Amino acid sequence: MHTAVFAIALWATSALARPQVPGESFTGTVGNDTVAGISSGPDANGKYEICGIGIRANFIAYGASISNLFLNDTSGIERDVVGGFDNASYYGVDRQHPHFGGVPGRYANRIKNSSFVIDGETFNILPNENPTPDHPHGIDTLHGGPDGWDWRNWTLVAHTHNSITFSLTDPDGDQGFPGEVVSYVTYTLGNMTWDLRMVAIATTKVTPIMLSSHTYWNLDGYANNETGTALNHSLWLPYAGQRIGTDPILIPTGDILANQPGSLNDFYSAPKQIGANFSNPDLVGNCGFNCTGYDTAYVNNRQAPYDWREEGPVARLRSAWSGIQLDVFSDQDAFQVYSCGGQNGSMALKSTQGLHGVADRPRTIQQYGCVVMEVEDYIDGINQPEWGRDKKQIFGPGDEPFLLQASYKFSLNDTAVGLLGFGSG
Ligand SMILES: *[C@@H]1O[C@H](CO)[C@@H](O)[C@H](O)[C@H]1NC(C)=O
Ligand SMILES: *[C@@H]1O[C@H](CO)[C@@H](O)[C@H](O)[C@H]1NC(C)=O
Ligand SMILES: *[C@@H]1O[C@H](CO)[C@@H](O)[C@H](O)[C@H]1NC(C)=O
Ligand SMILES: *[C@@H]1O[C@H](CO)[C@@H](O)[C@H](O)[C@H]1NC(C)=O
Ligand SMILES: *[C@@H]1O[C@H](CO)[C@@H](O)[C@H](O)[C@H]1NC(C)=O
Ligand SMILES: *[C@@H]1O[C@H](CO)[C@@H](O)[C@H](O)[C@H]1NC(C)=O
Ligand SMILES: *[C@@H]1O[C@H](CO)[C@@H](O)[C@H](O)[C@H]1NC(C)=O
Ligand SMILES: *[C@@H]1O[C@H](CO)[C@@H](O)[C@H](O)[C@H]1NC(C)=O
Ligand SMILES: *[C@@H]1O[C@H](CO)[C@@H](O)[C@H](O)[C@H]1NC(C)=O
Ligand SMILES: *[C@@H]1O[C@H](CO)[C@@H](O)[C@H](O)[C@H]1NC(C)=O
Ligand SMILES: *[C@@H]1O[C@H](CO)[C@@H](O)[C@H](O)[C@H]1NC(C)=O
Ligand SMILES: *[C@@H]1O[C@H](CO)[C@@H](O)[C@H](O)[C@H]1NC(C)=O
Repeated sequence: MHTAVFAIALWATSALARPQVPGESFTGTVGNDTVAGISSGPDANGKYEICGIGIRANFIAYGASISNLFLNDTSGIERDVVGGFDNASYYGVDRQHPHFGGVPGRYANRIKNSSFVIDGETFNILPNENPTPDHPHGIDTLHGGPDGWDWRNWTLVAHTHNSITFSLTDPDGDQGFPGEVVSYVTYTLGNMTWDLRMVAIATTKVTPIMLSSHTYWNLDGYANNETGTALNHSLWLPYAGQRIGTDPILIPTGDILANQPGSLNDFYSAPKQIGANFSNPDLVGNCGFNCTGYDTAYVNNRQAPYDWREEGPVARLRSAWSGIQLDVFSDQDAFQVYSCGGQNGSMALKSTQGLHGVADRPRTIQQYGCVVMEVEDYIDGINQPEWGRDKKQIFGPGDEPFLLQASYKFSLNDTAVGLLGFGSG
């Protein structure tokens, strides 16, 4: 049943010859891309491997998620720099459901009051955050609802030596959203690069679409013997002179705020360690009620027209300890940074991470042990018409598809310390 539905959706929207059978060769197209290769099955942990030059990764069908990303650090030691679980079968079981490495959809981030208006019609979708006695399921929607795209098993469409494509068909009415959406997500590894390409097509009705990649980073692979946190990673957001103002439950207020040089939310004027301002009491509440740190949507202000591949990175994350530096290039106009204040040591590290007996630190992700960075559009733009995001967030049959492109470029930078690292304030 599932396979048949998938095959119809696939044939309706692309030119793949037929659904794939592991071990058989195939060719076809996905959107404008030609895909060809041998479909190899998952490994014993349910993961698919792809390889580039100096980089290797695993992906799983659950959420079209990245589960492992391996690079050698400046000492030549391999590090697995993303959060995840050892076994694909555990992703749907873990009660915290941390959106590890997946594709939130059909609308990433938060939707105010779990509702929106399109062409004068109000749609109420399923809430899943901030429950109250009157609203036991919540008063807003996070990452597409209680059964968002990153909690579903996608279908493997193509798998080559260096790339993998997953597809999902989201039915009309699912989580309350209008119309069917068919999506393809392709990940490709190159020379120390990880490229993402996400396409989504509204096939039957006009609907909001906003996708992202929800990857948890620790560029030390949790093997830094001085700290299990990512607070010493330095972050630079060279286009983010502004951010989207939010209320205590992280719903946009409508304000676009300036990031003044030297202020808590300034990663724009110079690189700064994530933890640089953690001793400043004003940082409490900066990522929601009683939360210290960041869960902030920055605005990428680039002068149009620009070529996102050439314009320079929208973000640079670097660990002086491992020397691994990540430059994020993207065609998206916003960039969410979450400093993992909600982690509490209850999720295990993967066997490919951590200290392995060198020091007695718990083999778990501790509070601030990661940084989530999400390339995406303006959060809740569907409820802020004055921002003019409709062309990027509202799609119907016959429109150009939703498109997200990003390139994560890795390099080794052995500069000894992070610039402007830490301070009293
Ligand atoms: C496909 O290619 C056409 C022609 O180059 C271009 O206009 C269109 O935007 C592309 N579509 C996608 C989804 O990349
Ligand atoms: C992963 O989990 C599956 C399902 O529980 C199990 O069959 C498999 O043996 C596990 N893989 C490993 C390597 O333990
Ligand atoms: C790391 O270096 C080792 C030794 O040169 C090599 O075998 C391995 O493939 C490298 N890892 C990656 C991810 O390139
Ligand atoms: C997803 O697939 C895994 C096997 O990889 C299976 O254990 C799990 O039940 C599936 N989850 C859903 C929601 O279909
Ligand atoms: C929130 O949604 C409910 C249900 O549609 C509606 O009755 C209410 O007016 C909405 N509240 C606001 C503030 O938009
Ligand atoms: C990979 O990139 C590095 C640095 O940009 C370059 O020196 C090297 O020649 C490239 N390797 C290949 C095989 O293209
Ligand atoms: C961490 O490792 C380095 C290099 O091996 C060593 O010099 C340093 O003393 C270690 N620090 C701790 C806290 O163990
Ligand atoms: C790491 O960050 C902490 C505060 O977050 C600071 O006290 C410490 O000096 C930093 N270490 C390095 C090596 O930058
Ligand atoms: C705020 O957080 C602190 C430390 O995490 C905790 O001790 C305190 O109880 C919290 N306060 C409220 C009002 O939730
Ligand atoms: C850690 O957080 C998770 C998810 O919020 C919660 O279920 C769990 O009880 C917490 N554990 C501790 C020890 O606080
Ligand atoms: C390496 O990191 C340092 C410190 O953040 C920075 O000044 C320098 O520009 C980086 N080098 C490269 C080549 O990106
Ligand atoms: C934040 O940290 C930076 C780097 O240490 C420092 O220059 C700045 O004054 C701090 N800002 C505040 C508001 O504490």
